[in-house]
Amino acid sequence: MGLESIIFPPTYLNRKKLRSHVNRKTILITGASSGIGEALTYQLANYSCHLIIVARREEKLKKIKENLNKFPATVNIYKADLRNEHEMEGLLSLLHALPNGLDIIVSNAGKSINRSIYDSLDRYHDFTRTMNINYFAPVNILLSTIPLLKKNNGQIINISTINALLAPVPYFAAYQASKSAFDVWLRSVSSELTTEGIATTSIYLPLVRTPMIQPTIAYRSMPAMSPENVATIICKSMYTRRKKYQPWWLIFGQILSVFARRLTILPKKEKKE
Ligand SMILES: NC(=O)c1ccc[n+]([C@@H]2O[C@H](COP(=O)([O-])OP(=O)(O)OC[C@H]3O[C@@H](n4cnc5c(N)ncnc54)[C@H](OP(=O)(O)O)[C@@H]3O)[C@@H](O)[C@H]2O)c1
Repeated sequence: MGLESIIFPPTYLNRKKLRSHVNRKTILITGASSGIGEALTYQLANYSCHLIIVARREEKLKKIKENLNKFPATVNIYKADLRNEHEMEGLLSLLHALPNGLDIIVSNAGKSINRSIYDSLDRYHDFTRTMNINYFAPVNILLSTIPLLKKNNGQIINISTINALLAPVPYFAAYQASKSAFDVWLRSVSSELTTEGIATTSIYLPLVRTPMIQPTIAYRSMPAMSPENVATIICKSMYTRRKKYQPWWLIFGQILSVFARRLTILPKKEKKE
């Protein structure tokens, strides 16, 4: 048994339960042109549901739709930069015009930046662009669609990161702050939504082998989950409607991360003194 299969054991999926749960449902997946969103689209395409997949790269979305031509799901693509007010409005109008409403939102589109604070001093835009896609965009979508989800006893699934639950690591301030902002937002409104029949699920992910982690050289040799395994976890959360998923070892990671952070920042302090 390899290290990766111990750290990231495969997820058992009850296909029968998933099939009956998503049958004839409309599911919005943001950020479906690559990585986790793409893998999820391929997995859900095996069921009779309506998928609305969103991203900026239209040619990638078109290719996915073309590949899924003969699959049971109906796939609609929507090209949008979710940071752009006008394009966001277009998406929201489409969602409000759906004849059978909206059942599940998978809030997945996201951007990561790995940059030291010293290299960021003239890069305020790094902080606005990560907040725009990782925080303001999903909040904007949900403010508009909560009434739709309420009508259908719907579900919001947030593709979050374990970093939101760990002591923050250096170099990822923009990413971690923006992902944590939406994580806290969703958890803050969760009980209000649940009382009206809307389930919320936060999926806390470790490293996942997608294009997002490629620019960070150190990540290439580190154990990482496959996007297909993550897609299965997301699918499973649709019929369990559980509040959260986190890796089994996260509690140990939470303890270790406190010490690891001390080790990372101490040498810098020593240099200054
Ligand atoms: N990979 C990891 O290690 C990891 C770990 C924890 C959590 N996550 C989270 O998982 C989610 C998916 O990431 P991934 O790993 O699958 O990365 P990815 O392959 O880079 O996918 C990111 C997706 O977001 C879309 N996107 C980015 N900016 C957008 C914008 N302005 N408007 C619309 N769509 C936009 C991208 O499409 P276009 O470029 O075509 O617009 C792409 O489809 C993210 O929220 C990320 O924070 C990832």
